[in-house]
Amino acid sequence: METQAYKRYTITAALPYANGPKHIGHLAGAYIPADLYARYLRLKKREVVFVCGSDEHGTAIANQAMKEHTTPRAIIDKYNALIKKCFEEIGISFDIYHRTSEPIHHQTAQDFFTNLNDKGIFVERESEQYYDERAQAFLADRYIIGTCPNCGNENAYGDQCEKCGTSLSPEELINPRSTLSGNKPVLKPTKHWYLPLDKYEDWLKEWILKGHAGDWRTTVYGQCKSWIDGGLHPRAVTRDLDWGIKVPVQGADGKVLYVWFDAPIGYISATKQWAIDNNKDWKTYWQDKETKLVHFIGKDNIVFHCIVFPVMLHAHGEFIVPDNVPANEFMNLEGDKMSTSRGWSIEMHEYLEDLPGKVDELRYYLTAIAPETADSEFTWKDYQARVNNELVAILGNFVHRIMILMHKFYGGKVEAETATITLQDENLNNELGRLYDEIERSFESYKFRQAQQTMMEIARLGNRYLTEKEPWITVKTNPEDAKLALHNGLLLVGHLACCLQPFLPGAAKKILHMLNWPKDVITFDEGIFFKNGHQLNPAELPFEKIEDELIERQMQKLIAKKEAIEGPAQPAEQAVIPAKENISFDQFAAMDVRVGTILAAEKVAKTKKLLKLTIDTGIDQRTVVSGIAEHYEPEGIIGQQVSILVNLEPREIKGILSQGMILMSENAEGKLNFVSPINWMPNGSVVR
Ligand code: MF3
Ligand code: ZN
Repeated sequence: METQAYKRYTITAALPYANGPKHIGHLAGAYIPADLYARYLRLKKREVVFVCGSDEHGTAIANQAMKEHTTPRAIIDKYNALIKKCFEEIGISFDIYHRTSEPIHHQTAQDFFTNLNDKGIFVERESEQYYDERAQAFLADRYIIGTCPNCGNENAYGDQCEKCGTSLSPEELINPRSTLSGNKPVLKPTKHWYLPLDKYEDWLKEWILKGHAGDWRTTVYGQCKSWIDGGLHPRAVTRDLDWGIKVPVQGADGKVLYVWFDAPIGYISATKQWAIDNNKDWKTYWQDKETKLVHFIGKDNIVFHCIVFPVMLHAHGEFIVPDNVPANEFMNLEGDKMSTSRGWSIEMHEYLEDLPGKVDELRYYLTAIAPETADSEFTWKDYQARVNNELVAILGNFVHRIMILMHKFYGGKVEAETATITLQDENLNNELGRLYDEIERSFESYKFRQAQQTMMEIARLGNRYLTEKEPWITVKTNPEDAKLALHNGLLLVGHLACCLQPFLPGAAKKILHMLNWPKDVITFDEGIFFKNGHQLNPAELPFEKIEDELIERQMQKLIAKKEAIEGPAQPAEQAVIPAKENISFDQFAAMDVRVGTILAAEKVAKTKKLLKLTIDTGIDQRTVVSGIAEHYEPEGIIGQQVSILVNLEPREIKGILSQGMILMSENAEGKLNFVSPINWMPNGSVVR
């Protein structure tokens, strides 16, 4: 099932900043989905290069060096090694994990800059910028603090007041001071190179708004649309900083390329290095129209990958632009935003140390709750439940039962009248064919959560088949039937092993070993059969149950980590809203609540609380005015599934006809949360 005939694929995953360890939210956001896609394509025998590496420039690195009282070089060496090792252990199958501090990258980024500069693409502008005379440095926005003109907070940053949320520019701060020396900075003229995004508006409209209305995720498309519709401005691609790639222009001393200019070029440099190492031509992966370029990122990187970098590639002229940017939303942790600095996180290395040998379990859970269409939530209890009820009880159990019975009845040997055994059951064959199609369709459209669920359907199918055939009974009454059922079951295990390879590489290996499969992979479409006389290896359990104790220890650790940073939490008296009077069943049944999806959202003019939402209810598309504007940004909820009361009398609110009500959960403090199905459900599904 090809969506379009591409000759090869260039897959990128966001280059993580080497300024600290990375957590499982990063994994869920970009690296796991990218890995699933790359592994799937390889199993389809497509030509793939999957690149990543450390992002080693910018103020993030310089800041961390200051914090740890060391040099940027020491920081990047330390965290690059840690991140790289974790990715390897988690089975992220990069073809190369590169670094932006490598000379080949400096050269590539400078060449790219020079190419655009020679073409006259950039706009050069002189502007006044804050300079710290004692530290002898121009100050990045974050290095300037002062009083917020909006709320009076004395410690607002030059780019944002964290108290009132207003975004600022450094000149707006009252009483600015430098965080480097505490001195009052002075304004000094400085020259920078700007990429004039405004000149590419028409091209972006054509390429994204027209060209990708159908295939990009609504969350990604929506963000691009609101950026483009809001009007684009030139963006500086250079900075006054001493850590970074020197601007390759005479007289540009003390200036480096802006980290967001050089980092995405890191994808290209990584491909170059890989091509050198593997005797390939890097250009075909970046400059041939028959190559599909796909960027995997988290939602905070959308503008750089959908607008800035594509404009750079397009302006250069020799490069292809991404075919898709399937950005994920965020994954929260136990009810709160994940954050390394606040201690509310599970770092990759922590998971690997604390739960050794449980990589597939993590991959499985992160895929099961992948924030593909909306933010999602990691909880240790849910992790345990998914592993125990799905991986152990459904998948592991099916494989194990078949293996045990094959050994018990036939000494682990496939014995048939024919030279080979193939699946002899029309229903099973049809059903399996349907599941394969669905898995492939899901992969091709970046719906990895769905793909994994469908993969699990194969195990469910197998369990149902076994229960129906009862070979442990028919082995005495009708041995031919029992053998047929077990051989069919064994072939199903083979198909399951094939489909689970992208998700669960460790389990795939174990199962292939049990099957004594002659190769270490089963490619899609390869045809699955066993030869007469084939000997199986002993049965093993692919997964083990997760005990309560392990989960409790992890919860305690999480809380302890946070308390070590923020002090003990106040034991909050959980206020509870009192119960209402009973109603009859009929009163309840009169409410028609459905699953719907938010297609569009905008603020209602002149109000603080109201959002105007367009909802696909499965029945129709309708407008609902909802009082959630203080809790959600309109761009952030596009694509969110909701429960909607569809038979509420329409009402006019601020001149807008509101048809229905979105159900929200609300605690006593007024915190809101959507009520939506845990797994994706078609719009129009009934809630009762
Ligand atoms: N380092 C950035 C971040 O962590 C991502 C860079 S992606 C690249 O947000 F495209 F610039 F490489
Ligand atoms: Zn403020």
